[in-house]
Amino acid sequence: MKSALMKFLWWFEHRLELRKTIWPVMRHPIPRDLRTQVGWLYVFGSTAMTLFVLQIITGIGLGMVYVPSAGEAYESLEHINYEVELGWMLRAIHNWSANGMVVLVVVHMTQVFLMGAYKYPRELTWIIGVLLLLLTVGMAFTGQVLRWDADSYWGLGVGVAMIGRIPWIGPQLVELLMGGPTMGADTLSRFFALHVFIIPGILFVALGIHLYLVVRKGISEPPVPSEPVDPATYVEKYEEKLKTGDPFFPDVFLRDAVFIGLTLLVVVGLSAILGPKGPSAPPDPTLMQVEPLPDWYFLPLFAVLALSPPSLETAIILIAPVIIVAALFLVPIFSGKGQRSPRRRPVAVLAVILFLLCYCVLWQLGVQEPWSPHMSAWSGEPVPESMIKGRSPKQLQGAAILQEKTCRNCHALDGRGGQRGPDLTDVATRLTRDQLVRQVIQGGGNMPAYGKEMNRDEVDALVSFLETLKPDGYAAAESSVVTDRSD
Ligand code: HEC
Repeated sequence: MKSALMKFLWWFEHRLELRKTIWPVMRHPIPRDLRTQVGWLYVFGSTAMTLFVLQIITGIGLGMVYVPSAGEAYESLEHINYEVELGWMLRAIHNWSANGMVVLVVVHMTQVFLMGAYKYPRELTWIIGVLLLLLTVGMAFTGQVLRWDADSYWGLGVGVAMIGRIPWIGPQLVELLMGGPTMGADTLSRFFALHVFIIPGILFVALGIHLYLVVRKGISEPPVPSEPVDPATYVEKYEEKLKTGDPFFPDVFLRDAVFIGLTLLVVVGLSAILGPKGPSAPPDPTLMQVEPLPDWYFLPLFAVLALSPPSLETAIILIAPVIIVAALFLVPIFSGKGQRSPRRRPVAVLAVILFLLCYCVLWQLGVQEPWSPHMSAWSGEPVPESMIKGRSPKQLQGAAILQEKTCRNCHALDGRGGQRGPDLTDVATRLTRDQLVRQVIQGGGNMPAYGKEMNRDEVDALVSFLETLKPDGYAAAESSVVTDRSD
C-alpha cells in the first residue's frame, strides 16, 4: 500500500522535479541572528500574503452570488447575508481579512523601513512593495464601492470628485472609471472589473516579483549599528553570514506558520462575532438618513478634505498624495546605503512616529467632524421665517423642495444647518440664475448632482427660491451672459 503511494508520488516527482526547484527555495538559508534575535518581527509579510490568498478564495465564493449591477447589487448582498447558507460568514471573512491585509501590509512596511531592510541590494524589493501597498489600497477602495450602499456611494462620490480635479485629464479619467460623468449603471461593472480582474491581476504579478526578489536577495540580517551597508562589501559579508544560517524551512517557516495561524483565528473570530460589514442603507445620493463614513483606512484622508478650507482643497488633494507616494518610492534611492539600525537613524524613527501621530489624530477628527454631513441632524430644521415671508407660491414651493431634498444637511441658512457646503443665506448675491440651475442639476465640488432627482418644474421652483436669498438692498449676482428671465 505504502509503496503504491510512493510510486504514485514519484511518478509526479519525475515529471515536476520539485526536489530540484522548490525544495532548495524552501531550504534557502536565513541569517542565524534573525532567528535567535528578532524573528518575530519578520512574520508580517508572509501573513499579509496569506490573507491575500484568503481574499481570493472568499472572493471567488462571493463572485458566484454577487450581481454587479446598480439595480441588483444591494439586494444580492442582502441575499448573501440572509439567505445563502453561511453567506454572511463568507462576506465577514472577506471583509475582516481585507482589513487585516491593509494593517499587515502597513506594519510590514514599517518594520522593513525601521530596520533599514530596503537598503542595498534590496531597493527594488521595496519599490515593488510600495506598488503592492498602492494595489492593496486600490483593492480596499474598489471593494468598498462594490458594497454599493450609502457609505460606499458617498465614498465613491468624494473619491471621484478628487480625481475629477486633476488638471487636463481629470474629467476623462472620471468618464473612464465611472462609465459616464456621474455614478450610473456602468459604474458598478467598471469597479467590479477593477476589483476582480485588473487590480488582483497586477497584484499577483507584482507579488510574484516581490517574492522572487526576497528569495534571490535573501532576507536581511538584523541591523548592527557598527556595520553600515557598503555596496562594495555588503554581499560578501552577507554570504559569510549565511554559512552559519538556518534553512527557511522548517526553522523560520515555523514562526511564520504560528503567526499566520493566530491571525487566521483572529479573522475568523472577528467575523463570527462582529459579522459582515453592511450593506448599510441602499444608496441614494440625495436622501441619506445615515451618517455615511468611509472604511476606516480612508477616514484620515476624508478628515483632511473636511477640515481644509475649500480654496486649498484642490491643492491638498492633488499634491499631497503625489508627494507621499513619490517619497515612498524614492526612499531606497536616496538612502540606499549606510546605517540600517533604527538606533542610529533618528530621522527615520521620527518620520514613522510623526506619520502615526498624524494618522491617529486625523482619524479621530474624521470620526468626530462633519467631514460628511451629519445627515439626520439638520433635515428637520425649518427654513427661517424671514426667508419665506412675502414670497410667491412658486418660491414657497422652492423652499419646500429645499427642505424635502435635505439640502440643509450640507448647507446652512442663517448659520443653522450642515457645514459641508457654503451657507446659502445670501447665495443670490454670488450666483446667477444660470449658475444656480447648473449647481443643482450637475452638482460638483463634492455636491451630488440632483438632475435625475428633480423634474424641470421642481428645479425651476427651487432656483426661484434660491434667487430670493440675499439681504435686503443687495443686488443680485451679475451675469456676464444675457439670460431669459421671462418666466
Ligand atoms: C452632500 C452635501 C450637499 C448636499 C446634500 C447639497 N449640497 Fe449644495 N453644495 C455642496 C458643496 C460641498 C458645495 C460647494 C461646491 C464647490 O466647492 O464648488 C455646494 C454648493 C452649492 C451651491 C453654490 C453655493 C455658492 O455659494 O457657490 C448651491 C446654490 C447649492 N450648493 C445648492 C444646493 C441645493 C439647492 C441642494 C439641495 C437640492 C444642495 N445644494 C445639496 C454640498 C451639498
